[in-house]
Amino acid sequence: MNRYKYLFSPLPTASVAILSGILAMIVPPAAPLFAADVESIDWSPIPVSKPRLFYPGQSDYQWLRTAEHKKAAEETKAGEACLRCHKGEQKSLGEILVVENRLEPDPIADKSGYKRLSVQAAHDDQYLYLRFSWGSDGAGQGNVGNLMRFDGAKWAWWGNHRQHQAVLDDGQPAIYPDRLGIMIGDAKVPVYPEQGCWMSCHNSLPGMPEQADEDEVGEHPVISQLYRQLGIPITNYLVRKYLPGSRSEGTDWAAVKNEDKLAALRKQGAFLDLIIWDASLTNPVGVAADFNVLEIKKVDEGTSPLWPNGKMREGPKYMFDKGKVGFSALTEADLADPAKPKHLIVGQNTVPFDASKIKKGDLLPAHVLDIAAAKGSAADVDYAKGVFENGKYTVVMRRKLDTGHPQDDKVLKVGGVYTFGFSVHDDAAGKRAHHVSFPATVSIGPGKADIQAVTLK
Ligand code: HEC
Repeated sequence: MNRYKYLFSPLPTASVAILSGILAMIVPPAAPLFAADVESIDWSPIPVSKPRLFYPGQSDYQWLRTAEHKKAAEETKAGEACLRCHKGEQKSLGEILVVENRLEPDPIADKSGYKRLSVQAAHDDQYLYLRFSWGSDGAGQGNVGNLMRFDGAKWAWWGNHRQHQAVLDDGQPAIYPDRLGIMIGDAKVPVYPEQGCWMSCHNSLPGMPEQADEDEVGEHPVISQLYRQLGIPITNYLVRKYLPGSRSEGTDWAAVKNEDKLAALRKQGAFLDLIIWDASLTNPVGVAADFNVLEIKKVDEGTSPLWPNGKMREGPKYMFDKGKVGFSALTEADLADPAKPKHLIVGQNTVPFDASKIKKGDLLPAHVLDIAAAKGSAADVDYAKGVFENGKYTVVMRRKLDTGHPQDDKVLKVGGVYTFGFSVHDDAAGKRAHHVSFPATVSIGPGKADIQAVTLK
């Protein structure tokens, strides 16, 4: 032990300089790590996999373990793979679950139950590259995010997802951004390779049968803290995705393990990595958001490019720069005009908010994008660009195989096989109203997997 201690004890700067001089003479320089130019990758020879996505209704972790999951509860509890019994059933499951049934009390009219996602993967020495395409069920591009409206006296949320009360009961428009979710994990997360996303979906989540009481969530020291960090006044506290391993009593949302235990799980890699590309909240600055799921779904450490637009209901912080875009705020009619920008991008089209420029009925995005401020683990997916053409999205993204942030990202190794879960939200769908895949394996380089990331040279 002493010997190692000696080796690693700091050397005076002069000796380091001499030593590295000697090393440079005897050690040949390592070959530079190859990284492709993400914009010029030729995707045409790279195989296309087409995971089957379906509407899952309220088929949460808890329901899957009840007798209602006929002849499968014990097997599911024992960790058996969904696909062992449901292979090839995605389309029929989706068609059953998307209309009113025991797992869907609140169906969305005319929603489709099934979707094919196209996935291509490649890697080099440094990065994993992913290319996705899918047909959207929306009438057009869903690239408008949450909005705030000035009613002449105060600001209030305006527009929401299709199953939101404001849309169903208060006549607000269904406006919600289109998104693609990619969940990444491996056997370090118990039962994730077998049951994928369903390990993170619980009956206490929003829109689920036992949705947690908002006041109780708001008072919970761990769960509410993540909301408080945003610094915005919130009334609707929700429980977000979490893993059973993070709970001390069964899977109860409130029974969060203590900090030391959570830190140990994180160190073991017993969390999920979650990347979300969002047509409104990330795509305008060409990136994707980087989350992780353990005790809750939260943004990775560091600084995200996505920020609330001030304290929102207390008044926005930014508005559009009229000199650049021709207006200070949007109107309802502007939303249908593709030529009008819908996103506040700091450094490009914003000025500080000035109430004297605002009229009754004006709209402003509830978020701002500040790409120059993005740093650390939250900014790991530094390239994610999507285009919408003829009803179809195509998104290309990259992420370092090893981001250098093992506390909230999965470290991917060449030759390794990982489990991915995919989700698509479209047509103003929110929360659980998405299409999801059963777990799919992805190998970095050749390997036994559903999707192989081709090695670029
Ligand atoms: C041991 C086999 C088995 C396993 C493992 C299994 N299931 Fe099932 N599942 C079934 C059977 C059998 C049914 C009942 C089919 C029916 O009612 O027609 C069912 C029904 C369902 C339903 C309800 C469909 C309906 O008709 O209402 C859903 C949703 C579902 N399973 C999802 C899953 C998911 C997700 C997993 C993995 C986490 C899973 N199942 C694991 C066998 C299994």
